[in-house]
Amino acid sequence: MRTLAEPFRIKMVEPVRITTEEYRSEALKKCGYNPFLLHSEDVFIDLLTDSGTGAMSDRQWAGMMMGDESYAGAKSWQHLEAVVKELTGMPHILPTHQGRAAERILYGILGGKGKVFISNTHFDTTRANIEFTGATAIDVMPEHATDPEIDLPFKGNIDTTKLHELILQHGPTNIAAIIMTVTNNSSGGQPVSMQNVKDVRNICDQYKIMLVIDGCRIAENSYFIKHREAGYENKSYEDIAKEMLRLADAFVMSAKKDGLVNMGGLLTLKDDALSQQCTNLLIISEGFATYGGLSGRDMEAIAIGLKEVFDPDYLHYRIRSTAYLGEHLRAKGIPVVWPIGGHAVYIDAKKLYPHIPVEEYPGQVLVCDLYTQGGIRCVEVGSVMFGKYDANKKLVPAKNELVRLAIPRRVYTQSHIDYVIDVFDDILEMREQRRGFTIRYEPPFLRHFTAQFEKLK
Ligand code: F0G
Repeated sequence: MRTLAEPFRIKMVEPVRITTEEYRSEALKKCGYNPFLLHSEDVFIDLLTDSGTGAMSDRQWAGMMMGDESYAGAKSWQHLEAVVKELTGMPHILPTHQGRAAERILYGILGGKGKVFISNTHFDTTRANIEFTGATAIDVMPEHATDPEIDLPFKGNIDTTKLHELILQHGPTNIAAIIMTVTNNSSGGQPVSMQNVKDVRNICDQYKIMLVIDGCRIAENSYFIKHREAGYENKSYEDIAKEMLRLADAFVMSAKKDGLVNMGGLLTLKDDALSQQCTNLLIISEGFATYGGLSGRDMEAIAIGLKEVFDPDYLHYRIRSTAYLGEHLRAKGIPVVWPIGGHAVYIDAKKLYPHIPVEEYPGQVLVCDLYTQGGIRCVEVGSVMFGKYDANKKLVPAKNELVRLAIPRRVYTQSHIDYVIDVFDDILEMREQRRGFTIRYEPPFLRHFTAQFEKLK
């Protein structure tokens, strides 16, 4: 097969600094072995997130110059509204400054004590916004889908049998909404099939429950449907996304992913009365209904990005280049979550360091070593992020100890990724000597952002 060349050429460059291993060891020590606390200029390849870290196109930058900054009824708003209406088929479009603002507004209204939300997997801000209202958030992944090695085409699906049981157990009137996260970020960026969303739609109809699609990576999900699900071979990526969104009652989107912009979000709704309630909250907290926390130029860039993201050359490059990293790591013997998802490669740190117990956070060891060895920044998605304590202060570990290498869109070239693959040679060479960490400081919520660690000797 021919080399997968990037379907763009570079018109502007941002220099990145190459530092020494000694410098990086010192920098990491200073921030308590938590790469979230590093200065970005000390990072060579930043794979912390694919959110808001992409590069915009020349057309998007040109669109920025055309941004209409009027407070109300701006042209840029009309452009964005038209693109999103066409994509979702929904009549009510609310702009927000990012995804979690849309979540706060919608779940703030739907949630409350006694309410239950069920999802394939709630993303952490989704869960936090739901739990903040006093409601409960339940994930229902099929058992096999959490096995990092099992090779299935749609490991992001919800378990519809368990979903059904849960609805009956809690009572349909207590279920505030079913949320389908597409692709399923927290389970490895794995796709959700159209059939699964159709099945969920039927269940929602049966019990009169609202269906929300959290679709910040819906274009990437459409790529997987076209190439893996029977009947979609000849449909365009955009048409696949349109079909899926027409199954939903509401759509929440962080535009920082498949919107191909650095900031922005959307909430779209079918229901008139709910939309009115959400609009009132939007105006109080985000901004007037025709800009919701965004500049006119931002809205222009999202409107263009939401079209560009469905370009077949772009999507092919996007999905294949993520798979390129995952396949090469796997070939080296690095245990990766399989198959490779859309926006990131996830590594099974428990398997990479079988001698490090979960209480010593094997994922954090890999995160720190990738930084010291190669200046690469990524994030632990294991017991640092999701671990809890029982009544005796003993760690209740997460299901898996993963590390996520998220790929920013249109930012790094293949040689950057080849460099990342090379750094893993050092990781393999060092792995038996590695020891874990203990936590020196942790905040009460979302501890992974600011926790401080100490190296165990
Ligand atoms: N939903 C999903 C599935 C997400 O992945 C994110 C963000 C959000 C909602 C919230 O959107 O950041 O614009 O407020 N995910 C980022 C990540 C932060 O790194 O995966 P936001």
